[in-house]
This record gives sequence, C-alpha cells and structure tokens, in this order.
Amino acid sequence: MKGKKIIVGISGGIASYKSAQLVRLFVQADVLTRVAMTQNATRFITPLTFEALSGNRVIHDMFDREGTSIEHISWGQEADLIIIAPATANIIAKMANGIADDFLSTMVIAATAKILICPSMNNRMFMNPALKHNLSLLKERGMTVMEPGEGELACHTEGPGRLPEPADIFEQALILLTEQDLKGLNILVTAGPTAEPIDPVRYITNRSSGKMGYALARAARRRGASVTLVSGPTSLKPPFGVKFRSVKTTEDMMRSVFDNRPDTDIIIKAAAVSDYRPRESASRKIKKKSDSLSLELIKNPDILAQLGSTKKDFPCLLVGFAAETEDLLANAREKLRTKNLDMIVANDISRNDAGFETDTNVVKLIYVDGKVEDLPLMTKDEVADLIIDRLKSLKENNNT
Ligand code: CTP
Repeated sequence: MKGKKIIVGISGGIASYKSAQLVRLFVQADVLTRVAMTQNATRFITPLTFEALSGNRVIHDMFDREGTSIEHISWGQEADLIIIAPATANIIAKMANGIADDFLSTMVIAATAKILICPSMNNRMFMNPALKHNLSLLKERGMTVMEPGEGELACHTEGPGRLPEPADIFEQALILLTEQDLKGLNILVTAGPTAEPIDPVRYITNRSSGKMGYALARAARRRGASVTLVSGPTSLKPPFGVKFRSVKTTEDMMRSVFDNRPDTDIIIKAAAVSDYRPRESASRKIKKKSDSLSLELIKNPDILAQLGSTKKDFPCLLVGFAAETEDLLANAREKLRTKNLDMIVANDISRNDAGFETDTNVVKLIYVDGKVEDLPLMTKDEVADLIIDRLKSLKENNNT
C-alpha cells in the first residue's frame, strides 16, 4: 500500500462527510491521496477539509488554473486507483454514458487507473432500473462496484443505499491494489477463544483476543483467497469480504470447521480452543449457597487432531498454533507430529509482546522436515502475511 497513489472522487451526497474518514485512513497508511470534488459536493463539505487531511490541493473546478499540467488528464493516469465515494446516481449515470462536464467526470473518462465505485443514495433511487443498468454497464467495463449498506438512511427511510463504512472501502481498495496471488484458493481460519457455559450467566474461556486469526483471514482475503473465518467470541469486527461463522463452544467450532472442510485447500487453526468443558451446564443460575463449589470438567474433542487423522480423505494443508509457556520447540514439534500437520506456529505466550491480546507477535515456524524459522518481533499483520507466503510456497511444492 505504501507508495501507491489514489484519488478519492467525491460527488454531492450527504454521506460525503464519511469521505473525510476514508481520506484519513489512506493518509495514515502512507498512500499519496488526492481529492477531486464535484461542485455539488462542495455544498456538503468544504475542499479545505480534504486539503488539510490529504496535505494536497483539492480540485473541484475544471478551469482551476493553479496546476502546472493538464490535470484532468494527468491525475487519472498517474493514480493506481480512483475511488468514487460517495457515488451519486448522477455521477454513476454520467460515467455510464461517457458524459464529461466537470473535473471529476472528465478525469474519470480519461483515466487508466482502476476504478472503485461506492454508491450512496436514497433506497428508491438505488432500486431504480436506470441506476441498476448504469451500474451493470460500469461493472462490464471492469470497474468494481461496492454493495451499499442497508439500514436507516439520512432521508429517514430504510433500505439499501448507505455508503459502505470507510474501513470497508479502505479494505476493498487494498484488495484492488494487492497482487491476487491466492486467487482460486479456499482458506479456512479459526480464531479467538471458545467459551463453555457453566450456567446461563457464566462460562469458562481463555485470554485469546482473536487478533492473530483475524489478521490471517484479512491477509489471505487481501491476496485474493476465498476465506471462511470460524470465530469464537471476540470484540473484533469481522474482516471485510470473508465468510464469517460465529461460534461459542468447542463443539460448535468443530461442527462449523467440518461443515466447511470440503473443497478447502488450507486450514489454519489459530483459535485457542477450550480443552475442557463442564460435564453439565446448569439450566438456571447457580446460587451461592455453599462456601465452595466444584465443577467437574470433561475433555473436549481435539478438532485439529481429528482433522489430521482424516487428512487423506480431505487433502489440504493443515496448520496449527502451539501456545506454550515452556519447552516451546519440543512441545510444538510434538503437536506437529501427533496432529499430522504440515506446519505449526509456535508461540511463547509468557512474553509480554507476543501471544494473547497483543498487537505484536514473536513466533517460530516449524515444518515437517524439521526446519525451524525464527521470526523477529513483528505486528500480527506482518506475521500473518509471512505465514501466508510460506503456505503459498508449501502449497505450490505439494502440487508439483
Ligand atoms: N486445538 C484444537 N482442538 C482442541 C485443542 C487445540 O483444534 N481441543 C488446536 C488449536 O487450535 C491449535 C493446536 O490445536 O492450533 C494446539 O493448541 P494448544 O492449545 O497449543 O495445545 P493443545 O493441543 O490443546 O495441548 P496443551 O493444551 O496440552 O498444550
């Protein structure tokens, strides 16, 4: 993403206030961001806002004479991506019909950059057949159209038409700017803890935040894989573009993993699964009648071990995580062997900067041939990208 050049094109809709957040996300990611606005957009939000956020001059007047080159031509050719957000029915109709009557529509018609359209309008406008036809024309010409969100709109009606959240537009842009080297691969990731109920109020769980698993799902999706994320309870938002399956207990997770297993090429089990559950879960709240309380726990199934023992029936790469406080390598190697894995990611969870809840991680990647790759301290996003790189190579070697 760093070093890429994008243009945010803003047309005159009430959702243009959300474009300020979008521009901010790109600037934070070190992306050179330029903003082009229609005259109507400037009635909703001022160019000054975007000049301050992007650090660049904003153009909203075709006959702006400040620039040095013919900017309605050069901008769209220098950029990697143009995002029209919000895209009103009017700019969509102009783009579909080749109308170039202001800076934004003229720049778009001369552009060589990829184009992402983020519609935002009243739900009746969005369902209008002319609008639908225009959008399908633009898709046929290779542009990407994001589905608008549903819900209460600024005009106090309900339905489709809401501008997608800036974080989702950002993620979709990232997908368009990233090499799709995992296209055609189906990847299943598990993440987060599982939670085993004691009674309707209490449960047993662990400290897993889900961050590593979510980072893996996001990295694989960005690179073009079709991703299913099976997640225990976390406070994280499901990554954009993944098929999300929410589960609670280990048994729920096992069902979901096995349901999604056919046609999966790679399974990454980053979840911290509860090894035990209460023998019985009380149907009513347990009252504090006595001074002590004993819970009898019984063993949960080992999902990964069951996947490993039946691998020949469903050939796919199996990747586990080993969360350890001591004897990291020996314990991880043992899990790699007994669960019949292709790779294990060994995590020393006694460190403050690795393992549960942190944004960083320090891991060792251990392979079947005994090779160990020691990775330095990295963000979980960086670790995820590197794990995905290694899995891609393993997959290619398996296929040759
Ligand atoms: N795992 C699983 N099902 C379980 C327990 C673990 O699928 N019931 C998976 C985890 O998702 C992880 C790997 O097995 O990928 C190792 O999990 P970990 O908790 O480190 O080890 P355990 O096998 O549970 O062994 P122990 O708790 O004794 O270290």
